[in-house]
Amino acid sequence: MTRIFSGIKPTGHMTLGNYLGALRRWVETDQHRADALFSVVDLHALTVEHDPARVRRLSRQAATLMLAAGLDPERCTLFVQSHVDEHARLSYLLECTAADGELRRMIQYKEKSTRAQAAGEGVRLSLLTYPVLMAADILAYGTDEVPVGDDQTQHVELTRDLAVRFNQRYGHTFTVPKATRPPVAARVMDLQDPDSKMGKSHESGAGIVYLLDEADLVRKKIMRAVTDSGREVEYDPEGRPGLANLLEILAACTEGNPVELAGVYESYGALKRDTADAVVELLKPVRARHAALAADAGYVDEVLRKGADRARGMARPRVDAAYAAIGLLPR
Ligand code: AMP
Ligand code: TRP
Repeated sequence: MTRIFSGIKPTGHMTLGNYLGALRRWVETDQHRADALFSVVDLHALTVEHDPARVRRLSRQAATLMLAAGLDPERCTLFVQSHVDEHARLSYLLECTAADGELRRMIQYKEKSTRAQAAGEGVRLSLLTYPVLMAADILAYGTDEVPVGDDQTQHVELTRDLAVRFNQRYGHTFTVPKATRPPVAARVMDLQDPDSKMGKSHESGAGIVYLLDEADLVRKKIMRAVTDSGREVEYDPEGRPGLANLLEILAACTEGNPVELAGVYESYGALKRDTADAVVELLKPVRARHAALAADAGYVDEVLRKGADRARGMARPRVDAAYAAIGLLPR
């Protein structure tokens, strides 16, 4: 059976980008067709300045939202990364497989380290090594497929390179995984700044739809989305990114096609209204289930405990095999 692994970092409140780019597909297809693991990858939240209480709160909230969105603990394994030691254990071996230069080339590292420096914050060493930990997350489980949004493609490529290199040097140990992306909305853009990704940790929330935003606020954010001064509605991601973003969001919500949808609309206003309605409808059940689940922290904790037990059992033998293959004496 195909093995799937993916994760979400608890660095901020979950966004529509997380939902359309990743979570929704995990729920609707991945957990039904494969042996799937989904993780709140909390160790990754420590790579930038963080507040311990906030990371703790966001980790539980992320797990609750993943369940609210429809991940079913009977069908998939849902767990918190730091509850399974094998990730960090394997990460070190992969640090001994990766080269300094290939990590410095990662786009996210370049962007985030530049931003941290500009803000007068130090750049944590873990920000540089973060893709290696991500590779460990994936390789520990013999993962075949990694369903992610566009921004993670480069990290999955690195993971493939490390798997191939390790296998060549030390004998076949790891499955070489591949990234899979959603057909539309693989990169949802910020509504106020359609040239950049809708990301959790943006300073201003005006261009970001959070999954737990009230319906009125979601409407307001979408109605105020930045477009352009044109009149015709056409799908042109390069030339008219704001408009294309709305068309992609609407297409993703309605299982439509952005090019065809562009032909349906005469005005930006009508497109925005329908997009706002579609997003509000899509998120309504998630919000309702989140409210119910958030009232039952015991249930969520129990799901996470069982998930971690199962994940540990799956990762341990492969990580032990990697320790032996690389030349460490078995215990
Ligand atoms: P992160 O929030 O960075 O941990 O991302 C969790 C998942 O959501 C990853 O698969 C990302 O690729 C995906 N994702 C995050 N932001 C977006 C976005 N704006 N558009 C599409 N996918 C996204
Ligand atoms: N790096 C991913 C992100 O920023 C999160 C992540 C960590 C992940 N480990 C993973 C995604 C393993 C897929 C598989 O979105």
